[in-house]
Amino acid sequence: MLFVTPEYNRSVPAALKNALDVGSRPYGQSVWTGKPGAVVSASPGAIGGFGANHHLRQSLVFLNVPAMQQPEAYLGGADKLFDAAGAPANEGTRKFLAGFMQAFAGWIAANTKG
Ligand SMILES: Cc1cc2nc3c(=O)[nH]c(=O)nc-3n(C[C@H](O)[C@H](O)[C@H](O)COP(=O)(O)O)c2cc1C
Repeated sequence: MLFVTPEYNRSVPAALKNALDVGSRPYGQSVWTGKPGAVVSASPGAIGGFGANHHLRQSLVFLNVPAMQQPEAYLGGADKLFDAAGAPANEGTRKFLAGFMQAFAGWIAANTKG
């Protein structure tokens, strides 16, 4: 599961939290458990949604989602990092995101059972 989130008041938007909560019940039948995950936060602000990124990680601990620790992805100034079609607007961003996804592929392979 790749979680890509903006930041609302240093946490995640309610819609994302609601999806986590709904998927976690009935108790014992969570859809999240054991699925490898990664977190990307994005904001026009300078700190790239750090608060949302780490608040989400707190829930992922309880939901038993092994969340990739490195590389971290805090996309600050995100309104300038993508073009009108949603593609990376510069080579540095493209390379960073490609590296992130390569690492995530490795994380999924290492944390998928059977
Ligand atoms: C209720 C609310 C809270 C916000 N809180 C933060 C915040 O804590 N940190 C931040 O960097 N940006 C914050 N923002 C600005 C968002 O990063 C910005 O609105 C961004 O474009 C999110 O996209 P969206 O409004 O389409 O979800 C907030 C925006 C809203 C509407």
